[in-house]
Amino acid sequence: MAISTVLLPMVLSLSLVQLAYAQSLDQGFYANTCPNVVGIVKRTTASFISQSPSLAASLLRLHFHDCFVRGCDGSVLLNSTNGIPAEKDAIPNKTLRGFQVIDAAKAALEVVCPGVVSCADILALVARDAVTMINGPYWAVPLGRRDGVVSLSSEALNSLPAPFANISDLKSTFGALGLSVKDLAVLSGGHTIGISHCPPFSDRLYNFTGNGDTDPSMDQRYIQQLKTKCPPADVTTTVEMDPGSSRIFNTGYFTAVSARKGLFQSDAALLNDAETKAYVQQQTNSATSTFLKDFAASMVKMGQIGVLTGKAGEIRKNCALRN
Ligand code: HEM
Ligand SMILES: *[C@@H]1O[C@H](CO)[C@@H](O)[C@H](O)[C@H]1NC(C)=O
Ligand SMILES: *[C@@H]1O[C@H](CO)[C@@H](O)[C@H](O)[C@H]1NC(C)=O
Ligand SMILES: *[C@@H]1O[C@H](CO)[C@@H](O)[C@H](O)[C@H]1NC(C)=O
Ligand SMILES: *[C@@H]1O[C@H](CO)[C@@H](O)[C@H](O)[C@H]1NC(C)=O
Repeated sequence: MAISTVLLPMVLSLSLVQLAYAQSLDQGFYANTCPNVVGIVKRTTASFISQSPSLAASLLRLHFHDCFVRGCDGSVLLNSTNGIPAEKDAIPNKTLRGFQVIDAAKAALEVVCPGVVSCADILALVARDAVTMINGPYWAVPLGRRDGVVSLSSEALNSLPAPFANISDLKSTFGALGLSVKDLAVLSGGHTIGISHCPPFSDRLYNFTGNGDTDPSMDQRYIQQLKTKCPPADVTTTVEMDPGSSRIFNTGYFTAVSARKGLFQSDAALLNDAETKAYVQQQTNSATSTFLKDFAASMVKMGQIGVLTGKAGEIRKNCALRN
């Protein structure tokens, strides 16, 4: 009796907390405080993408990097301060681009509803708009994220999957964030747009096991082609991850991976697990492909990783700086 009168309220309040957490993001979060947020962000994103379509890939990647390090809290946008290097300054960052789009959307929003819309929400909206604008799917973005106050380059290095990750590493990195094996296969399809520099895959061309060999899991003719673009130690050249359609969001990535032309070991690794392999193969046929719909659903999941809500964090005035 005594135990249940003590425990029951505890159990109840715990489940209410969990419920509040699960439902804390909401598409209508700014309905009263900044009703035009979605349109303002969309117009800003469109003005950049129409000038420079390749930015769409960079904006999607920014949101991914944000969510995988400390949750989707805008920490990827923060500048280093007082000599402490931020996520932006970690090795995987050196190729992050698109910060100017976030800053422009933030500036436009500060004019109409100052101090209201978080940088983390802006990034989630911009990534969605960017993908939709290049033939990708649309998804409604649940809103209400708040901005974090911490950004550490060391965490970016430890939290982001490496391009040489194997399938068990990838499954555990994604799993630890609440993402399924299917989400791993689906979200890897983000590589259907965008470019890579040579270093993330040059070992596969020149020195796979340290003996001057190539990666036997990559198509050998493709290796020869890549070698002509990426001489050893080239750090400036870029190559398309989905050759020929790197600016259109489609299923080309899966066709490439299935033909053993995935650019990174982490792409090729999707063929080393029965579930991810079956997913890759299913996407190569337009009659059976579910990729666009799946991508929308997995992005909504990714966009909720570790979010700050309620009174946690802050609403930054400038996305590159804590208040
Ligand atoms: C599965 C583990 C992943 C690994 C190991 C990985 C690794 C990488 C690497 C090494 C690059 C090239 C950077 C450069 O040299 O320029 C890249 C680019 C990119 N990644 Fe990933 N990534 C992963 C997952 C994702 C996910 C989940 C998304 C989004 C849903 C994503 C979206 C992108 C995009 C769009 C680019 C191109 C960026 C641009 O063109 O500026 N990646 N990724
Ligand atoms: C953040 O850093 C970038 C690159 O170093 C710089 O161009 C920008 O002005 C900085 N932003 C602020 C608000 O200090
Ligand atoms: C990424 O980090 C390097 C240093 O490692 C820094 O020079 C560069 O400005 C950073 N890039 C961005 C976009 O902040
Ligand atoms: C995957 O890579 C990790 C190192 O990142 C290694 O410890 C593990 O043994 C590898 N697993 C397989 C199945 O190759
Ligand atoms: C290949 O890798 C081995 C072992 O990591 C290294 O000692 C060697 O210098 C590399 N060769 C080249 C050409 O990079």
